[in-house]
Amino acid sequence: MAKEKTVYSCGECGGTSSKWLGQCPHCKAWNTLVETVAETIAPTKNRFAALARTAEVQALADIEAADVERTPTGLDELDRVLGGGIVEGGVVLIGGDPGIGKSTLLLQALDNLQRAGGGVSSVAGPPQDGERPPSSAAQGQPASGGRAPHPVRARGSVLYVTGEESGAQVALRARRLGLEGSRVQVLAEIQLEKILATLEAQQPAVAVIDSIQTVYSDQLTSAPGSVAQVRECAAHLTRAAKASGTCIVLVGHVTKEGALAGPRVLEHMVDTVLYFEGDTHSSFRLIRAIKNRFGAVNEIGVFAMTEKGLKGVSNPSAIFLSQHAEPVPGSCVMVTLEGTRPLLVEIQALVDSGGPSPRRLSVGLDRDRLAMLLAVLHRHAGVACMDQDVFVNAVGGVRISEPAADLAVLLSITSSLRGKPLPKGFIAFGEVGLAGEVRPAPRGQDRLKEAAKLGFSVAIVPKANAPKKAIEGLTIHPVERVEEAIQALRGLD
Ligand SMILES: Nc1ncnc2c1ncn2[C@@H]1O[C@H](COP(=O)(O)OP(=O)(O)OP(=O)(O)O)[C@@H](O)[C@H]1O
Ligand SMILES: [Mg+2]
Repeated sequence: MAKEKTVYSCGECGGTSSKWLGQCPHCKAWNTLVETVAETIAPTKNRFAALARTAEVQALADIEAADVERTPTGLDELDRVLGGGIVEGGVVLIGGDPGIGKSTLLLQALDNLQRAGGGVSSVAGPPQDGERPPSSAAQGQPASGGRAPHPVRARGSVLYVTGEESGAQVALRARRLGLEGSRVQVLAEIQLEKILATLEAQQPAVAVIDSIQTVYSDQLTSAPGSVAQVRECAAHLTRAAKASGTCIVLVGHVTKEGALAGPRVLEHMVDTVLYFEGDTHSSFRLIRAIKNRFGAVNEIGVFAMTEKGLKGVSNPSAIFLSQHAEPVPGSCVMVTLEGTRPLLVEIQALVDSGGPSPRRLSVGLDRDRLAMLLAVLHRHAGVACMDQDVFVNAVGGVRISEPAADLAVLLSITSSLRGKPLPKGFIAFGEVGLAGEVRPAPRGQDRLKEAAKLGFSVAIVPKANAPKKAIEGLTIHPVERVEEAIQALRGLD
């Protein structure tokens, strides 16, 4: 057996050193090295041969490629970002600001999964010698695709491990969400070894760990939430998920800057990373996939937080448009594409006479890009805002990173400067280059169709995005340059 040895690991980066040092040799942070117990193996030539027999290797072609089987969570917006549903043995990390609704979302999802699994009232226990696995074990498992149903794991057996709240608090939330009769199994525990033993014994189909920062392992002396603990616990849980086929969802805290707390390696370890975000002043919440080994990223799901919990918003376009009875100056609607779904977002601009050093501010859009667009507008279309304050905002707390917003930003600025509203039912999108050219946006047809579906009737779009076949109800003005776009706008007055 390997000899036990002490190493010093850094609380900031998780790096190790054989002796105590004032400064971490890896990340150069001061006073972060803490003593931890490490198991080391003497570096002899055949050290692994002594520990295990050689494993068999296989040609890729000989390995059966089974399609991943997805179980929908019943929350369509969550399923959309997961790529269709949860996957057996998959590990999902979900991060978000405090109080955004992570626990609410997962409790609702678990309850749905439990009900959809045929109302399995309790998670199946391990089979005793000579005892047949419970008959409910294989129920609902499709016969084809995926791996064979687990002998003891019942579909619909779900476990909610809470480290932040007591069982009573979870029950209180469940009651508020209208899930009084829920058969979701709850475990209030923060010790990793106990959690792993429970997972092993209960074999749930899905387990939620709320949150990974509260879990600690007895093997390490550092406090729960420290880098070493988070890394170690996540690694053990990931291994448990892969070995047993249980899908594990880890809730992760975020740092002040909004990134997931803990070591960066956490994001590499798991299969899917989701962010749950939203404006604290609005009830809308967005969930987006940052990484997904089982599906596309950049999908977003939209929820509304209500007293009865999170409700999916199937037509999110409506929430990013402010409700003006009549068009107002400085407002232009654009169609942005988040993942596979086009979204209509209103861009608002306010141009007002400024002081000696005019301000340029943007909310939800890139500020450097705004400065660039103002220069393009002046140079190529002769619209000057040099002595004006310019404020730009994407309505509804949405963040737009794609350059297809450029044309809508320019047109809303022009509209505010002129004090003239854009026509009723007007939309625009397209990227604007430094030479004043208007470049196409990806999947222009889909964007135009979505706009037409929502009753928009006039559009200024890049020439390359103009549809070959007319779209019913939509008059399209294709443009190649910024000055053409401003010209087309004047023609619409
Ligand atoms: N009665 C209520 N009516 C409407 N919304 C409520 C009500 N009670 C709680 N909420 C919402 O639920 C949110 C808390 O949700 P939840 O506890 O799931 O968040 P969380 O992301 O798990 O937070 P934490 O980081 O503290 O674990 C509150 O911020 C609030 O928006
Ligand atoms: Mg919570």
